[in-house]
Amino acid sequence: MVSLVNIFCYNTLKFLEGYFKTMQLLDGKSLADRVQENVIREVGVLKQSRNIVPGLAVILIGDDPASHAYVKMKAKACEKVGFYSITHHMPESISQEEIIATIEMMNTNPRIDGILVQLPLPKHIDSDAILEVINPKKDVDGFHPYNVGRLVTGLDAFVACTPLGVMKLFDTYNIELQGKDVCVVGASNIVGKPMASLLLNANATVTITHIFTQDLKAHTLAADIVIVGVGVPGLIKADMVKEGAIVIDIGINRLENGSLAGDVDFAAVSPKCSYITPVPGGVGPMTIAMLLENTLKSAKKRA
Ligand code: GUN
Repeated sequence: MVSLVNIFCYNTLKFLEGYFKTMQLLDGKSLADRVQENVIREVGVLKQSRNIVPGLAVILIGDDPASHAYVKMKAKACEKVGFYSITHHMPESISQEEIIATIEMMNTNPRIDGILVQLPLPKHIDSDAILEVINPKKDVDGFHPYNVGRLVTGLDAFVACTPLGVMKLFDTYNIELQGKDVCVVGASNIVGKPMASLLLNANATVTITHIFTQDLKAHTLAADIVIVGVGVPGLIKADMVKEGAIVIDIGINRLENGSLAGDVDFAAVSPKCSYITPVPGGVGPMTIAMLLENTLKSAKKRA
C-alpha cells in the first residue's frame, strides 16, 4: 500500500514537473561578464609575474557602420580588461599591399599578441589572401587556414570567437552534446563551418544547412539543437523546432525601427524550447569575451 502511494506521488510530481517545465534563457551577458572578470585577474598575474601586457591590433577598413560599432566594442573591452590595443583605421580605397604591410608590421611587433582584420573587406581586396598573411600564432580570430585545419583535426588551435562562445555557453549550462542531433543553419567560414567542427569534435551528429538547402524545416525540426547565424531576421519560426529543443541565435539584425532582432522569432519559438539565447544578451557578448580569452592565451605563449 505504502509503495502504491509512493508511486502515485512520484508520478504526480513528474507530471507537474513536465507541465511547469519552463524554458531557460542562456544568459551570454552575465557569462561574458564573468569571463571578463577572470581575464582581468589573469592579466594582473601576467603583468606581475612576467611583465607582459596582452596586446591586440585591430585593422578596420572603410566606413561600414556595423564594423565600426563592433570594433569600438572590441577596443572598449580590451581597455576594460587592461590590454594594450591599437586600431588601424584605413580608408575604403586602401590597396591590398598597404594592408599586408600593416599586418606584417603587427606580425613582428613584440607588444602585439593578437591581430584581427574586421570583416567584411571592400570588394577590391582579396580577404582570403589578407587572412593568410596573419601570423597563425597571433590569429586570435581563428580564421587562418593553419588554425582552421588544426580545429578540423581536433588539435589545439585558435578558434573563431562566435562558435567558441556558443561552446562556452553549452559547457557552462551543462548541455551535453555527445550523440545529439544538431542543425547548424548557415555555412560561413566565420560561424557555420567552425561551429560544425567544434560540435563534431564534441561527438554530436551535425547537419549544416545553407542557402541551397531544399527543405530547411525538415532539418531544423529533426534537431535536438538548432544553431542559426545567417542574418535573416525571424527566419526560424515556431513550427520549425521540436518541443524541448535548444535554440542558439547568432543573428544580430538591425531592424528599420532601430531595434535589434535575431534570426529566430523569439516570442513564438521560446515557449517550445528547453533553452534559448536572447538577442541581444545571448551569443553577441560571448564573441567579444572569447576574443579576450584568445588574446590572453596568445600572450601567455609569448616568448
Ligand atoms: N565580422 C563579423 N564577425 C566577425 C568576427 O568575429 N571577426 C572579424 N574579424 N570580423 C567579423
